[in-house]
Amino acid sequence: MITAHWLPPSTATVQEKARETRMTDQYCVIGNPIAQSKSPLIHSMFARACAQDMAYKRLEAPLDGFNAAVDAFVRSGGKGMNVTAPFKLNACDYATERSSAVKLVGAANALKFEGTQVLAENFDGIGLVRDVTHNLKTALAGKRVLMLGAGGAARGALLPMLEQGPKEVVVANRTVQKAYDLASIGAPYGRVRSCAYAELEGVTFDVVFNATSSSLKAELPPVPVSVFENCVLAYDMTYGKGLTPFLKTAQAAGAVQLADGVGMLCEQAAHAFAWWRGVRPDTTEVIKALTVPLV
Ligand code: ATR
Repeated sequence: MITAHWLPPSTATVQEKARETRMTDQYCVIGNPIAQSKSPLIHSMFARACAQDMAYKRLEAPLDGFNAAVDAFVRSGGKGMNVTAPFKLNACDYATERSSAVKLVGAANALKFEGTQVLAENFDGIGLVRDVTHNLKTALAGKRVLMLGAGGAARGALLPMLEQGPKEVVVANRTVQKAYDLASIGAPYGRVRSCAYAELEGVTFDVVFNATSSSLKAELPPVPVSVFENCVLAYDMTYGKGLTPFLKTAQAAGAVQLADGVGMLCEQAAHAFAWWRGVRPDTTEVIKALTVPLV
């Protein structure tokens, strides 16, 4: 007599089992617009270098449809996502667990889906600091640092910067109240103050960051050139725009080293990748592949 356990499993069951055991892990970057995102290229290079079985795609969500788009991605087996403009605040709200960086900044740039939990992280600031201190070999400890801008990019950068122990961080912004509010958030973590651009006349800094979105419009923040006189590094957080008006001005005023945000982009991606996959990729080749010459 043939009992049930002697029967070979049906072909469909075998295929389902194979799919279950071999299914490629799904990741994406969500934003609107999203066509410009370099994240799929970065993460596919990381995945190849680290031998990770994962797929990574772009996901454009409607401006009023972030939650529904994430719900659908999770239902389809999504394991994690990067989040870019304009959804970083939505991602913070969507999460069930928020890192201290997310709580402080009020915005998330990476999510991880684990069962019913949605974990949120913000690696922008830590990526910037890693690029500056490790790749560009410029310590921030003991330095006088100027940060232009007080929007989302500046908010993400301030606390990781203060953790490096700079002598002082000065936040300058067109809308001075926003600079004041940001400096107040940072004050418990280090020496930080705010000012208007005009107050920077005649003041010098060791490192100057452009955290405004001015370079996207090929504009120059109204910063006096004196800030670059003793500057060892002028860093524009925008990437892929070559010599922006900010970098050109810094160069002409004598800044020793110039950098754009390509390293920051790749380093925040490496942090997200390590968080999702448990293996930290090397960023050297990816930064090389994405670098647009500063000319
Ligand atoms: P992001 O997420 O890129 O930081 P955001 O939150 O909209 O974008 O903030 C944009 C920042 O760039 C702000 O600090 C803005 O200054 P205001 O708050 O005064 O508007 C700054 N910014 C944009 N264009 C600028 C320009 N041409 N010159 C100086 N600052 C500029």
